[in-house]
Amino acid sequence: MERLIAQPGTGAGGVAEAMAAAAAEIDGVLQNLLPEPSGPERRLAEAMRYAVLAPGKRFRPVLSLATAELFAVPRRSALRVAVAVELAHAYSLVHDDLPCMDDDEMRRGQPTLHKKYDEATAVLAGDALLPLAFEIIAHPETHPDAEVRLELMRALAEAAGPRGMVGGQMIDLLVEHKPADIGTITRMQQLKTGALIAFACEAGAVLGRAPNTARQALRAYARDLGLAFQIVDDLLDVEGSEEATGKRVGKDAGLGKATFVALLGVDRARTQATMLADQALAHLDIFAERAAFLRRLARFVVQRSH
Ligand code: IPE
Ligand code: IPE
Ligand code: MG
Ligand code: MG
Ligand code: MG
Repeated sequence: MERLIAQPGTGAGGVAEAMAAAAAEIDGVLQNLLPEPSGPERRLAEAMRYAVLAPGKRFRPVLSLATAELFAVPRRSALRVAVAVELAHAYSLVHDDLPCMDDDEMRRGQPTLHKKYDEATAVLAGDALLPLAFEIIAHPETHPDAEVRLELMRALAEAAGPRGMVGGQMIDLLVEHKPADIGTITRMQQLKTGALIAFACEAGAVLGRAPNTARQALRAYARDLGLAFQIVDDLLDVEGSEEATGKRVGKDAGLGKATFVALLGVDRARTQATMLADQALAHLDIFAERAAFLRRLARFVVQRSH
C-alpha cells in the first residue's frame, strides 16, 4: 500500500526512482481521464494530451500521493486528486508559455503547445484542463463523502485563482523590468508556485481527514518547499541546461523577471533555497519516521537539475 513512504534509501538518488515509479502510475491515470480525440473538436483533446502527457516531473501529484499515504488514503482516491493537481499545473504551464506571457518555445523537451498547434488552441486547451481537474475531484469515485470533495474543490479553486496561481502570474508580469523588493518577490512566488504545491500537499490530508495539527504541519512544510522550488527554478534558468530542464534557459534576465536570483545573485539565492528546504524539514517532526519520503522530496527540490 505504502509505495512512496516505505521506499528505502535516504539520498536524492533513491527519490528519483520512487518518483519515476509514481509518475508511471500517475501517467496511466492521466491517459484514462484525459478525453479521447474524437468528433469535430478532436484537435482540442489532442492538444490537451500533448501538453499533459509530455514528460514532466509529476512533482505535485507525487506530493499528493505521499501525503495521502501518511493517512492511509486508498490509492484510487489519492491518484484521482493527484491527477487533478497535475492537470491544473499543466494548464498553468500552457498559458505561462504563451507569447503574451513568457513567450517560450520549448517545454518538457518538446515545442510548446502554441508552437506545435497554434495560440488559440493553446488558450482553449488550457481552458479545458482546469475544469477537467474539478470534474475529476467532484466525481464520487474520488471520495464517498461529498463534503470532502467540496473541500478539495474549494481549496483547489483558491490555489489556482486570484489569491493563488493566477494572482502570482499577474504580479510576475506587472513587475517585469521593474525593481521589486524581497517582500513582493516572495509573495509572487508563494502565489504563482507555492499555492498549487501547498494544495498538492494538503490534499492527501483532506482525503484522509487528518487532524488539524497534521494539516498545519503539512501546510508549513509546503510553504517553505514551494518557495524553495521556485527559487531553484529561477536558478536553473541561469545555471541549468536546456537538455536537462527541457525548456529554454537564460530567459528570465532578458524578460526582466523579478526573481531571488536577480535580487540576491546566484550564491545567495541558492543559500536561501537550501535554508528553506531545511526549514521545511523541521515542520515534519510530528510525523517522525513516516515523513522520511517527504524529507527526501525536500532535498530533491534543492538538488534537482531539471
Ligand atoms: C515549472 O514546474 C513551473 C514552475 C511552477 C516552477 P515544474 O518544474 O514542476 O515543471 P514540470 O511539471 O516538471 O514540467
Ligand atoms: C512558472 O514560473 C509559474 C507558473 C505558474 C506556471 P516560470 O515562468 O518561471 O516557469 P517556467 O520556468 O516557464 O517553467
Ligand atoms: Mg512565468
Ligand atoms: Mg515561464
Ligand atoms: Mg522559470
